[in-house]
Amino acid sequence: MNKNNDFVATADEGLASSARVVKDPSRQRFVVLVANAKGGCGKTTMSTNLASYYAHKGQPVTLLDMDPQQSSNLWLRQRERNGKDDIHGLTLPIDAHFNASKLHAPIRESREYLVIDSPAGLSGPALDALLRIAHVVLVPVLPSPIDIRAATRFLQAIMLSPEYRRRPRRLAVVANRARERTRMYGQLQNFLNSLKIPFLVTLRDTQIYVQATGLGVGVAEIDEPTAKADQNDWRRVAEWLEVQRHLVGALPGFR
Ligand SMILES: Nc1ncnc2c1ncn2[C@@H]1O[C@H](COP(=O)(O)OP(=O)(O)OP(=O)(O)O)[C@@H](O)[C@H]1O
Ligand SMILES: [Mg+2]
Repeated sequence: MNKNNDFVATADEGLASSARVVKDPSRQRFVVLVANAKGGCGKTTMSTNLASYYAHKGQPVTLLDMDPQQSSNLWLRQRERNGKDDIHGLTLPIDAHFNASKLHAPIRESREYLVIDSPAGLSGPALDALLRIAHVVLVPVLPSPIDIRAATRFLQAIMLSPEYRRRPRRLAVVANRARERTRMYGQLQNFLNSLKIPFLVTLRDTQIYVQATGLGVGVAEIDEPTAKADQNDWRRVAEWLEVQRHLVGALPGFR
């Protein structure tokens, strides 16, 4: 390791070191994985809104779509058709041919913020490979008993994965499409409290998200009073992520 260098290189020049961390947080690459094995809970909505939040703030951001459905990629194509080219898009569908080494190239090409949209059913070696490169995992959860049980199982799968056991990542849950943080979330809240996992925000169930998706934008970019509450939600998510980014930067050798 070269102590005079801003980059904290590690002995392993493989996958994780390509997501390597630098001492100066303003220069490091920060990888946010949006994941939940459950389908339809809002992974793509979260990924596209987060990427557009960063782009709107003038931050260099890459959106990596790893879902064979390519919903984030389609959103980005729509964005580009509307004249916005401020998000760098990459795709790497997790399919039968996926293996961890395929992550080298997108990590190398990524801008300072990398947001990864992952497919439903993420588990096993693919989950482990993504945990290896992620600094933070955001888990969207819908307010239904089935979704809450599935999210609890997914968080357990993360915490039992070899990569997480080697080095725990910061995890956070986002309640999605909830009118409020209903009692239904009580059991999940207890589980999260016991593990000190934050329940970051409750995203409203609103057509603003559906409209934004169709236009290739995020709620941060919608200049209407009705979007203010939702924009505050994203500010809170981004503030929490920024704290994590600085914490990661303060840990030499973190990878
Ligand atoms: N907060 C919200 N308010 C209203 N609609 C929402 C909200 N979040 C997501 N949706 C809608 O719910 C549907 C599923 O969301 P999304 O595609 O983001 O889920 P996903 O987890 O990526 O699904 P998949 O597992 O199929 O990839 C979409 O039609 C999306 O527009
Ligand atoms: Mg999706």
